Amino acid sequence: MKNHSELIKKLRAIVGDAYVLTHEDPLTDLTAWEQDWRRRERGTALAIVRPATTEQVAAVIKACAAAKTSIVPQGGNTGMVVGSTPDTSGTQVVLSLTRMNKVRSLDAGNLTITVDAGCVLQNLQEECEKAGFLLPLSLASEGSCTIGGNLGTNAGGTQVVRYGNARELCLGLEVVTAQGEVWDGLTGLRKDNTGYDLRHLFIGSEGTLGVITGATMKLYPLPACQLTAYAAVPSLEAAVDLLGMAHKTLSAGLTGFEVMGQFALGLVVKHYPQQKVPFWQESPWCVLLENSDNESDTHARSGFEKLLESAMEKGYVTDAVIAENITQARALWHIRESIPLAQAEEGLNIKHDISIPVSRIPEFVQETDALILKNFPGAQLINFGHLGDGNLHYNVQAAAGTDAARFLMENEKSLNTLVFESVTRFGGSISAEHGIGSLKVEKLSHHKSPVAMDMMRAIKKALDPDNLMNPGRVFRLPQAQ
Ligand code: FAD
Ligand code: MLT
Ligand code: ZN
Repeated sequence: MKNHSELIKKLRAIVGDAYVLTHEDPLTDLTAWEQDWRRRERGTALAIVRPATTEQVAAVIKACAAAKTSIVPQGGNTGMVVGSTPDTSGTQVVLSLTRMNKVRSLDAGNLTITVDAGCVLQNLQEECEKAGFLLPLSLASEGSCTIGGNLGTNAGGTQVVRYGNARELCLGLEVVTAQGEVWDGLTGLRKDNTGYDLRHLFIGSEGTLGVITGATMKLYPLPACQLTAYAAVPSLEAAVDLLGMAHKTLSAGLTGFEVMGQFALGLVVKHYPQQKVPFWQESPWCVLLENSDNESDTHARSGFEKLLESAMEKGYVTDAVIAENITQARALWHIRESIPLAQAEEGLNIKHDISIPVSRIPEFVQETDALILKNFPGAQLINFGHLGDGNLHYNVQAAAGTDAARFLMENEKSLNTLVFESVTRFGGSISAEHGIGSLKVEKLSHHKSPVAMDMMRAIKKALDPDNLMNPGRVFRLPQAQ
């Protein structure tokens, strides 16, 4: 049995008594750190440790490494795959970065911002906008997710079609290694070919290689206008055709292209009846488009009108609205952003966060829907997502009126197998943006080549030989004693 009380004493000395929370105090509720967002699993931590500086993070990691105690890095705890909460052993330290929330510098000439990893994404977007810049990372969880978590998961969101995901927006990192050393890679350089690009190892590593404490992110000038349109489309094929046409007509102006299936929109109507959801009853699919224009509102509007008129002539769109003002645009985006929330209100469900080459998506959905309905009669398909990136949230819910928990217990494994095998047949990935976490560990090695898995394990062993950084996430390795 390890001497945990000595470690807790050390941790308190590093970050201050108030910032080490444990179950010893029966009045302290640790739910916010121990329960995952989707309520799939609840863990028990040895302690929640909340450092305020990089130096404190380094000292905490050194103390934990000396005590062979594993660490679970945590940002906003909005992850979808149970990757940021502790296991049930009561022996893991949750390292919460949320007190590290300062903007370190904004370099207008270099178009970069350097920030602490615990900054909440929305706060950063607002800071950048005040300074006349766009930080083009946008997710429905932006009010609570952190930039460290966004980089830890290589988050996607709704503007990837134009700006790429978190990885493509990041020019530098500061990382505390598993040994408690600080690597300052906050260069802000757009070109640097001096050996391996280490930042890319940590981005998307889900806290398994080290702790990101700071980041330098790319900025863009604020566009003169961001216009939103919402269109009813008769089929997924038509949505893909519309996407191709939107790329051609709007070119780099196309900054968002989301698809929403009828059942997904129905959940929004059911749980948020105050929202006005256009066309959902008469159309199997609706699409949300964003056109960012550097000239003017008039220019953006004429681009959209041209696109939608041609799309209607070709039968790709049956009806459409263009937001008249920012309030209408926000309301349309709110519909899309409410889908995951409505799904959470609806209860337990099986989420798939897959990517397929865009051109093959209609065929994938047709074939996989049919397989699911044949094998799991009555199952309800909640399909929506970032069609512009070939990324669908291809989710499944128990048949109407049946017990969701029981459906998951009895069917989740086989249903995942069916969907992931289909994804592999279509040349896709089992995780486009949420990551592996705990939920997809078993599946990863079936869908990634043995050579790739070996290289990943070798990197993990080299950087974290004692397997103390978020063990059991991404893959399982033997634990240090
Ligand atoms: P956490 O949930 O705290 O952690 C996620 C992972 O990153 C864990 O493995 C954790 O250990 C690791 N981590 C956290 N901080 C650090 C750090 N500083 N250093 C190293 N590792 C770290 N995701 C998308 O990609 N696209 C979406 O469109 C999207 N929409 C969402 C909508 C809703 C309503 C919700 C609830 C979630 C959504 N997500 C989406 C998932 C989630 O918000 C993202 O994965 C986000 O990037 C997680 O950030 P976080 O700060 O909450 O990280
Ligand atoms: C989204 O795009 O809304 C998210 O990734 C969340 C989800 O999949 O539910
Ligand atoms: Zn998403």
